[in-house]
Amino acid sequence: MEEKDQKQQTKNSTTTSAVKPDKGHHPEKPSANRQSSEKSSDTNEVVIEIKHLKKSFGSKDVLKDINLTVRRGENVVVLGKSGQGKSVTIQCIVGMLMPDGGTLKVFGEEVCDLNEKELKELRIKIGFLFQSGALYDSMTVRENLEFPLTRVLKLKDQAEIDKRVKEVLEGVGLADAADKMPSDLSGGMRKRAGLARTLIVHPEIMLYDEPTTGLDPITSREISELILSMQKKYKTTSIIITHDMECARITSDRVVIMNDGEYIEEGTFDGLQKSKNELVKSFFKDIS
Ligand SMILES: Nc1ncnc2c1ncn2[C@@H]1O[C@H](COP(=O)(O)OP(=O)(O)O)[C@@H](O)[C@H]1O
Ligand SMILES: [Mg+2]
Repeated sequence: MEEKDQKQQTKNSTTTSAVKPDKGHHPEKPSANRQSSEKSSDTNEVVIEIKHLKKSFGSKDVLKDINLTVRRGENVVVLGKSGQGKSVTIQCIVGMLMPDGGTLKVFGEEVCDLNEKELKELRIKIGFLFQSGALYDSMTVRENLEFPLTRVLKLKDQAEIDKRVKEVLEGVGLADAADKMPSDLSGGMRKRAGLARTLIVHPEIMLYDEPTTGLDPITSREISELILSMQKKYKTTSIIITHDMECARITSDRVVIMNDGEYIEEGTFDGLQKSKNELVKSFFKDIS
């Protein structure tokens, strides 16, 4: 099922002309907001601000009016049925999809206005865990982890690289798996290794797209707890897309419910559990 979703994603991204907007004609802007993207102790700092976001594919209006503010260090869970546009929303956040309307600011900068270079800089600060958490099959876990350090962060100091690999593997509970091949890992371990590869560059924002899909309940729970502990350890700001209520309960500071192109309700997990809205209630119906 994961594979199918991944293919769907790949297929989608090649069948629309909106995926890769041409940003060539945007002039270089002075980076006035750069400072705001540095780690600060201001926990009220708005990291992601989405207002009236719209996105359609042909005649299909997928995002109609999305509004969301995420503050530094917060874990926001987006709950919604399949095909609601949850993945589309996060693809807009990283500039992979161009919205049709509204505003979308990350670290105070309008994502649509960024040129290629600025977009690349932004993406270094955003960890994106896809549904499949893809690892390179021909590389060991260690090589998979070293890859973003040498290619993205351009680190050269092997001692620093070794330190980061060791630290992140311990963090995700895979200290003994450094020299294993991905094919030797279980599904849950692969997910952990994928998460480690994303976290090793210390992203300020993490976007998790269905992090527990395809995993058994026990492993799902472990991954959810890992997401929570990574938030505490790295002080990351996260959006977690899921329809796994246990994952939502464990990881969320705040939950938003998406339906028909809008976020219809938001609150804490416990707060939403008491909602009178029928749709919201339907998400919680199997929870005791
Ligand atoms: N690149 C794309 N081109 C055309 N349609 C797309 C594209 N991406 C997503 N869609 C459509 O948008 C809708 C929402 O998709 P998605 O965000 O993947 O849903 P969710 O993640 O909530 O399950 C679906 O109908 C999907 O087919
Ligand atoms: Mg999706």
